[in-house]
Amino acid sequence: MTAVSRRAVLGGAGAGLAVGAVGGVWGGRATAREEAAALPGQRRVAFHGPRQGGIVEPAQARVEWAAFDLVAGAGRDRAAGLLRDWSAAAARMAVGEPGGDGGGGIALDAGPSSLTVTFGFGASLFDKLGLADRRPPALAALPAFPGDALDPARSDGDLWVQIGADDALVAVHALRVLRRLSAGVAAPRWLMSGFARTPGTTPTPMTGRNLMGQVDGTNNPRPQDGDFAAKVFATGPDWMAGGSYAVLRRIRMLLDDWESLPADRQERLVGRRKSDGAPLSGGPDAGERTPVDLAATGPDGVLAIAPDAHVRVAAPASNGGAAMLRRGFSFHDGLSADGSPDAGLLFAAFQADPARGFVPVQQRLARGDGLSRFLRHEAGALFAVPPGAPEGGYVGQPLLEG
Ligand code: HEM
Repeated sequence: MTAVSRRAVLGGAGAGLAVGAVGGVWGGRATAREEAAALPGQRRVAFHGPRQGGIVEPAQARVEWAAFDLVAGAGRDRAAGLLRDWSAAAARMAVGEPGGDGGGGIALDAGPSSLTVTFGFGASLFDKLGLADRRPPALAALPAFPGDALDPARSDGDLWVQIGADDALVAVHALRVLRRLSAGVAAPRWLMSGFARTPGTTPTPMTGRNLMGQVDGTNNPRPQDGDFAAKVFATGPDWMAGGSYAVLRRIRMLLDDWESLPADRQERLVGRRKSDGAPLSGGPDAGERTPVDLAATGPDGVLAIAPDAHVRVAAPASNGGAAMLRRGFSFHDGLSADGSPDAGLLFAAFQADPARGFVPVQQRLARGDGLSRFLRHEAGALFAVPPGAPEGGYVGQPLLEG
């Protein structure tokens, strides 16, 4: 890897996730080496840097989320050793080298495939490690929201690992390697797999679609916005400066019911056109990037974006400016007990503080979002995602050795 990492140079690019990706890579200035790497398998995202990967980069084709709990008796030294080992393995795999033992050789023929590995700390970790006095206030338990039916066995956890890659074998290999390294220190609590559009499947990069068929991700904060960092990255406490808070939700979609609605009804519930994601306030010539006008009315005086439309209820303007960077993935895990697809959105939102991001927005969505009739929140978690580690360091080192 050249001295300048992709993430270090991403700066003003990376553009609203998939939207701004250009040149088949990420949309930021690629290093010469990355630009030369035409094969998707050869693309790489540096592990070391001021921020962890897997936040501002576009969603990869495949994600593995894994939560771990420390085993009884594992104290701070062993937890620190695990994060050291995990970080070292992630750095190796990010350049396409074997991660270490485990993994069964399943990624031997592949390059790094834009692998990112992101580590997070749950509130319970701080109690177990005797670090309760260093737990940030922003990691306080989220309130219960109306309609929540969260399964505790698939929620929360001491540690979170997000593995993203444009090749499923690369992602699963990384999961196996990290799992092997955790033996005797931490045990898996839950696992979830998700997917997003594979880069290169459209002639030009486009915002992805979710399993409801909607263009999803348009009005995300963008790295080039002046207030992007203030919305997404924490300024403290010391060991969290430059980190973020990840709110996760496994949201099942009642797809059979949804798909029985006519398209215009589906569009009213979101406030955007299905074909191209244009806001319903913009008229026939509007496009995906046309700004949403929440005050616009039609000739009949009726609001163009309905009072219960998802984009109205979720908008920062409706929530005292609350904002977050959404970076979700779809899931499709076979059938539910009633025979309907067990499918939906692995929702992830990164923000500087959930109290000024996810919490107020979800409070309103749970009561007033027309879309919510077709959604079930089945699992959830909140993790502190520390800043990235410098070369030679590991994620969480200032907390675990501080
Ligand atoms: C399965 C569940 C969900 C689906 C299918 C969904 C879908 C969408 C779609 C299609 C858009 C419009 C395009 C865009 O700007 O990205 C959107 C916007 C948005 N969604 Fe969701 N969403 C879901 C859950 C959530 C949740 C749980 C939150 C936060 C608590 C949320 C927050 C937002 C925000 C903040 C916007 C941008 C609103 C704006 O400023 O225009 N969404 N969502």
